[in-house]
Amino acid sequence: MFVVKIGGSILFDEENQINDKLISKYAKTIRNVINDTEKKCTIIVGGGKLARKYIAIARKYGASEETSDIIGIESAKLNARLLISALSDNAYHTPPNSIEEFKEFFKQTKKVIVCGGFKPGQSTNAVAASIAETTNAEILINLTNVEGVYSDDPGKNPEAKLLDTITIAELETMMAKHQIKAGYYPLFDPTAIQIVKRSKIPLQFASGHNPENLTKIISGAKIGTSVIF
Ligand SMILES: Nc1ncnc2c1ncn2[C@@H]1O[C@H](COP(=O)(O)OP(=O)(O)OP(=O)(O)O)[C@@H](O)[C@H]1O
Ligand SMILES: [Mg+2]
Repeated sequence: MFVVKIGGSILFDEENQINDKLISKYAKTIRNVINDTEKKCTIIVGGGKLARKYIAIARKYGASEETSDIIGIESAKLNARLLISALSDNAYHTPPNSIEEFKEFFKQTKKVIVCGGFKPGQSTNAVAASIAETTNAEILINLTNVEGVYSDDPGKNPEAKLLDTITIAELETMMAKHQIKAGYYPLFDPTAIQIVKRSKIPLQFASGHNPENLTKIISGAKIGTSVIF
């Protein structure tokens, strides 16, 4: 069993259009990996620009953080439904609404379960970490819009260096610097880190722009950044 978080950040292009070619490629890659390895797989999809656009407008109307988070959760579920459509018969037909519902689905099906968000106050990375914990997954793969974890936010600091490895304690300190809010949980939020830390879940970060990175990581390649305990 392996768990993959696909960042909503890679699902939309510069013009805010849905990157449907990438979604098709993911469906093909996921199909190949599950056929080749005969392993179970759960995917969590983030909210990306869809969530951020909706949340920005809701905030303008005075929506609370909790309401904004719910918009983020529903956006991620909508994105998840696109991947479910692309995976067709290989995917369970609907994203679960909670970890309890996920566990029910997981008992019932061998198909890929594609999830969005679960509850306010946490990101889809926390969803991915909870799922990896409850299923005792062999690895949690975080595919995002950068090559891995850097020494500093590469979006803000052009001098930031890509790290091959990082300890969970270092990642925790680094991520604690970010102020989190609905629609903005950069890279890996504190809730997700606590879950990964307490259960020592193998965690790897890599670029999601190339779905083949998933195949490579599942076959043991150390691309991007590995988290060590
Ligand atoms: N130390 C760091 N290393 C790498 N990225 C970092 C770091 N600190 C902050 N970031 C930021 O985190 C971003 C990735 O997280 P972001 O939440 O934007 O995308 P995502 O999680 O893939 O998408 P979504 O949240 O929609 O699922 C990067 O683009 C980068 O700017
Ligand atoms: Mg994120």
